[in-house]
Amino acid sequence: MQNLTTIGFIGAGNMAYALISGLINNGFSAQNIKLSDTDAALLSLRADEFNLEVFTDNVKLAAQCEVIVFAVKPQVLSLVCKELQQHINHNPLIISIAAGVRATDINRWLGGDTAIVRTMPNTPALLGKGATGMLANEAVSDKQKALAGQILSAVGSCLWVEDEKMLDAVTALSGSGPAYFFLLIESMAKAGVALGLDEASAEKLSIQTALGASMMASSSDDSAHQLRAKVTSKNGTTQAAIESFQDQDFEMIVAHAMRAAFDRSREMGTELGDDD
Ligand SMILES: NC(=O)c1ccc[n+]([C@@H]2O[C@H](COP(=O)([O-])OP(=O)(O)OC[C@H]3O[C@@H](n4cnc5c(N)ncnc54)[C@H](OP(=O)(O)O)[C@@H]3O)[C@@H](O)[C@H]2O)c1
Repeated sequence: MQNLTTIGFIGAGNMAYALISGLINNGFSAQNIKLSDTDAALLSLRADEFNLEVFTDNVKLAAQCEVIVFAVKPQVLSLVCKELQQHINHNPLIISIAAGVRATDINRWLGGDTAIVRTMPNTPALLGKGATGMLANEAVSDKQKALAGQILSAVGSCLWVEDEKMLDAVTALSGSGPAYFFLLIESMAKAGVALGLDEASAEKLSIQTALGASMMASSSDDSAHQLRAKVTSKNGTTQAAIESFQDQDFEMIVAHAMRAAFDRSREMGTELGDDD
């Protein structure tokens, strides 16, 4: 990554921490990272840990950065944007990681004609294992797009989508997705206890199985469907379980749940953008 670029983070919470750690671990110089937050104690902690420059004034930070990452909660984003509106004449690239807030609303709050990359990361980003959907508006150059990709790659894998609606689909899949897997882990552990295992063993087996299956799916050339077929012997135990899932229309249950997340994401986008 170009160490000449200065990246400023507004909001010093969990996600900023994950991204800054990822950037520094990938060789980006802490001297070119700046951080602002309203919480002076948190800033002091971050400054000590990363040895970077911190600000309690977002405007001062923004003036010094070519890339500004919005890492505040969605509900405060409009305030942050409006505060910066008169102070981004140097045309920085804006990267928002705030869930649900549309790039069109961010652009309007910033006064228009701003280069904006809206992203939808997920919680495993905190471990460097995130999955992030990204959307660039028309003002973003190819160089800025590449830079945004490099920054988000510091916490996992990224892919670009073409419109806001596709970010709602990303939200329904990978954004909310970790919770679906937690639910499956939880349900399998409970079912294991019902079959006689003690709670700790059932939970351990359930978590390790999720980890192993996920690693197999990500490292194998086979699709998830092929991997499933390979471990499902005719008349065996796995087949009995899969048939039971299918009898309850498991695919439809998942499809309905994701449609509900997609619809809610669209609703929230409207609610969060409707503050003028
Ligand atoms: N955590 C995740 O896994 C995850 C996943 C996907 C997307 N996201 C998105 O990432 C964003 C950040 O999430 P997070 O978990 O890092 O939140 P967080 O830990 O609450 O961090 C946000 C920080 O911003 C500070 N802040 C509030 N108002 C501010 C202002 N006007 N100027 C500067 N800083 C301000 C907050 O201070 P106070 O606490 O004092 O208000 C807090 O320290 C959110 O929009 C969320 O939707 C998070």
